[in-house]
Amino acid sequence: MLLLLVMKERMLSGVKPSGRPHIGNYFGAMRQFVELQSEYDEVFIFIADYHALNTLQNREEMRQNILDLIIDYLAIGLDSKNVVLYQQSRISAHTELAWVFDTIVQMGYLKRAHAYKDAEAKGVDINVGTFNYPILMAADILLYDATAVPVGKDQKQHLEFTRDIAEKFNKIYGDIFTLPESIIVESVETVPGLDGRKMSKSYDNTIPLFASREEIERLVKKIVTDSSGDRPENVYALHKLFKSEEELAPIYEEYKGKYGELKRILAEDVDAFIAPMRERRAEIAKDVEGVKEILDNGANIAHELADAKMQLVRDRLGVVL
Ligand code: AMP
Ligand code: TRP
Repeated sequence: MLLLLVMKERMLSGVKPSGRPHIGNYFGAMRQFVELQSEYDEVFIFIADYHALNTLQNREEMRQNILDLIIDYLAIGLDSKNVVLYQQSRISAHTELAWVFDTIVQMGYLKRAHAYKDAEAKGVDINVGTFNYPILMAADILLYDATAVPVGKDQKQHLEFTRDIAEKFNKIYGDIFTLPESIIVESVETVPGLDGRKMSKSYDNTIPLFASREEIERLVKKIVTDSSGDRPENVYALHKLFKSEEELAPIYEEYKGKYGELKRILAEDVDAFIAPMRERRAEIAKDVEGVKEILDNGANIAHELADAKMQLVRDRLGVVL
């Protein structure tokens, strides 16, 4: 007998409210949230505030960052009518499921995580939350049976862990979790920062996504250029995000070796790209109550789904009599 399963395609992703999102977050992940939002049956985009707790332990800053991030989500074009927008911390099933996964994942396996290995190599002690980070992330994803998760390359391993954890649970307790696929756009999988390393809040090498024109000009001037070739590679790598190689070729030909000019043109192009989003953001930010309401609605929808899944998990574990 042929059993036809109609499976919902569900896209899910999140960003930590650990500082201002930058153009690396945008091109690597957030733009895909927007571009793909109408391609899926359901879309869940959340604020990973409990993940951010590992590095941000300040009440006022946390509150501000959460509010800022939901406004950012709306300003880049996420449609709150079709996308469930919510805060991770408000759905307690995330942390509950993370605990369940803690009991089936070995220490040795988690020690393979890049973040842990980097810390170990540097000889720094990390908190248990950072060690467990991939487990909470697996819970974020599996709780909703997400099928597609758009992220940057630095999250690839976390997605692999998530799939492994789903498989392990399914093997022990029977199939209840869907294995998600990561969506990583190769050309922007790692956006470089001002110093040529990966753009990252923790390296202080970012161009914030909603930066002002002055800020953009100041930051672009800071891009580290090597003086060996005709073309400043770090400038070009960022420029490619905003213009095609065909458009850039004559510009880089005309201003060969003139790094200052090329930076001036890059700053202009970045600003032209950001300006409309910046304006939209300023409008949205005027209605804080409306924005909070979006998060309340999102929490209600996510809650219902997550609780139903958690009930099923508890039943499989054998804790329901
Ligand atoms: P985070 O700010 O760490 O929560 O990251 C949010 C999303 O942005 C994740 O999907 C990351 O993989 C992605 N991301 C962060 N930095 C970069 C980068 N430099 N290039 C591409 N994607 C990035
Ligand atoms: N770890 C992700 C990052 O640093 C954020 C995140 C937490 C996430 N949970 C997630 C992303 C679930 C996608 C799906 O960027």
